[in-house]
Amino acid sequence: EKGGYRHFMLKEIHEQPKAIKDTMTGRIAKDSDAIRLDDIKLTAEDLARFGKIFIVACGTAYHAGLAGKYLIEHLAKIPVEVDVASEFRYRNPLVDEKTLVIIISQSGETLDTFAALKEAKGKGARILSVVNVVGSSIARESHDVLYTWAGPEIAVASTKAYTTQIIALYEIALHMADLKGTLSKEAIKAIKDEMLNLPAKIEKALGNKEEIQKFASKNSGEKDVFFIGRGLDYAVALEGSLKLKEISYIHSDAYAAGELKHGPIALIEEGTVVIALMAQHELYEKMLSNVKEVKARGAYVFAIAKEGNREVETIADQTLYIPEVSDMLSPTVTVIPLQLLAYYMAVEKGCDVDMPRNLAKSVTVE
Ligand code: F6R
Repeated sequence: EKGGYRHFMLKEIHEQPKAIKDTMTGRIAKDSDAIRLDDIKLTAEDLARFGKIFIVACGTAYHAGLAGKYLIEHLAKIPVEVDVASEFRYRNPLVDEKTLVIIISQSGETLDTFAALKEAKGKGARILSVVNVVGSSIARESHDVLYTWAGPEIAVASTKAYTTQIIALYEIALHMADLKGTLSKEAIKAIKDEMLNLPAKIEKALGNKEEIQKFASKNSGEKDVFFIGRGLDYAVALEGSLKLKEISYIHSDAYAAGELKHGPIALIEEGTVVIALMAQHELYEKMLSNVKEVKARGAYVFAIAKEGNREVETIADQTLYIPEVSDMLSPTVTVIPLQLLAYYMAVEKGCDVDMPRNLAKSVTVE
């Protein structure tokens, strides 16, 4: 049942190229210039009416939502606010008939997320959900559903649900951009072509385990690990940090790299482990300065950079390269080494990878 893999999590990590491909099938095609989302019934008039979009979710799905904000704002030029469901539902959010709420949930049964949906729906919001489990409570209560085709996710730590949620968010952002005319047909086509290449790039990233295993055998005894990144890399850093803490029980935090000097850098001392995400071309130079800052205080830096950006090698203690991919399309590739890193750290420590302590796959209580 684990398909030859030692754990469901490792199997599911390796299923990502296929899960992503399935989530694009019928929606993103090479030959047509449009993007087809037959399941969702948003019109150009609807979009003109929505002054604002909320994305609401918990945990890993929330992290996918943070990436979704970048994508929708960047491509479709609509302001997006992202909130965790347990906050959103109790803070009397400014939601009305002019609001679109995008709910993200793998299980479709998370109690806080479902309650947030009902709260927003009661105030007249239009609900579009991104869900993996067909016919789940969240899917049934939504006006529109865009399914992720990740297949069953058994391991408690979410992997393929996250990457397929991000793919669904590209689809939504592109669909909105198409309806609103914020992107030319050529620009949409270029992004779609690159999306269709993502499964191959992820496959390649999956083949690169040596540096990660080396890192895990050296650092699994650590008490604290820091993740830093900027832009979309920051959203991915939050996810990498959650993965690591939930299955290896190592305390970790993720910071927007520019925030370091506003406090967290006080924690950096000789040997402190910092994982630096450097997959955003536009922010690469800024990240190099941040890496130098933590190195100067004695940090052990594991950098994750794109092929071609080799300068970091001369500064970082360890560097892992991911395949070349544009800044906007990078999260599904950048997260792969972080998932593997969490996995190998947990295995190295002898943790129960698929069933981490205190956690449940679907959180149906408050
Ligand atoms: C982390 C993880 C959780 C879930 C969260 C939401 O690996 O699995 O953080 O992402 O409980 O669950 P869903 O997506 O089912 O609403």
